[in-house]
Amino acid sequence: MMNLKSLFLSIIAASQVYANIDEFDPTKMKLSKLSLGYPFIDDGFHIKDWDYGGNAVVEAFAGVHLTTDLPSHKGWLWSTRHLPNDSWIVDFDFKIGSLNKDRFFGDGLAFWATTERANAGPVFGSKNFFNGLGIFFDTYRNGNHNRPMPLVVGMKGDGKTSYDFSADGLGSSFASSDSLEYRQTEGPVKARITYVKGKHLSVKLKKDSEFVECFSVNDFTLPENLYLGLSAVTGQLSDFHTITYIKTRNITEEEAKQILTPVPQFAAHSSTSLNSNFWPTFIKLVIVCSIIGAALYAYKAYNKKKYRRL
Ligand SMILES: *[C@@H]1O[C@H](CO)[C@@H](O)[C@H](O)[C@H]1NC(C)=O
Ligand SMILES: *[C@@H]1O[C@H](CO)[C@@H](O)[C@H](O)[C@H]1NC(C)=O
Repeated sequence: MMNLKSLFLSIIAASQVYANIDEFDPTKMKLSKLSLGYPFIDDGFHIKDWDYGGNAVVEAFAGVHLTTDLPSHKGWLWSTRHLPNDSWIVDFDFKIGSLNKDRFFGDGLAFWATTERANAGPVFGSKNFFNGLGIFFDTYRNGNHNRPMPLVVGMKGDGKTSYDFSADGLGSSFASSDSLEYRQTEGPVKARITYVKGKHLSVKLKKDSEFVECFSVNDFTLPENLYLGLSAVTGQLSDFHTITYIKTRNITEEEAKQILTPVPQFAAHSSTSLNSNFWPTFIKLVIVCSIIGAALYAYKAYNKKKYRRL
């Protein structure tokens, strides 16, 4: 039976999820079979074009809980379709946290783009020795290193190399970041993974309505025929790991060009100030000067009159 509190929490969750509906199809490039949103469930407890398993639970209004806030849980969610071979952007929203805020928590969530799918295992609930891409949102320090948590760690697996369990994946990573907090946030956190074959991979998280880069690498190639997956794990300590939205889309050639030719910071500032700020600022300046000029003129005229009268 649903008690009042969980009903209330579901309504809050639903309103957060609902906020995404407007954004859900802003572009014709969306690959709907690789996307997922409200109301999540098809018929029964099936999700169209996706499989989920382990301890994962789907809640029609809230999303897919890869794990609930219980220890020793593992869950996963996998696309049944392949990603495009050449380039893609996956936007996904997730929530990691616990209702009991004053205790320890763990372990984290992984994003996958791999040749195999739906194999449970020891790397955030999924298979080790994977072939393809793993991005790890690691909230708990299991390994021996000095980096602050939570971490975002990227690894490219060749099917033979193990995830580095001794240092939370840092030893087997191609890049990592500890710059952003993404646990116990008010609403869902928005993540964006961008891939342009042979050229580019980046991981970004949205902060204050802007995407901030965790890391990006060039000359980056993944194998073909990749499935999209998300998985999460809890240990002795726990957290809920919930996916509230996924949108996958193709990248147009124009966009790929933009992604691949980042404008240097300095040039970017001066050019935007010229293009978008110079004319409005100039016009404002002209208006302000005219008002001051008119006021001065009126003041002088008034003074003249006053002296004449005297
Ligand atoms: C996306 O790209 C793939 C090839 O990578 C193509 O087959 C497909 O038609 C494209 N879809 C859209 C919606 O543009
Ligand atoms: C990806 O490339 C393989 C050949 O290597 C092809 O069989 C497959 O259809 C391609 N996938 C897509 C989504 O275009």
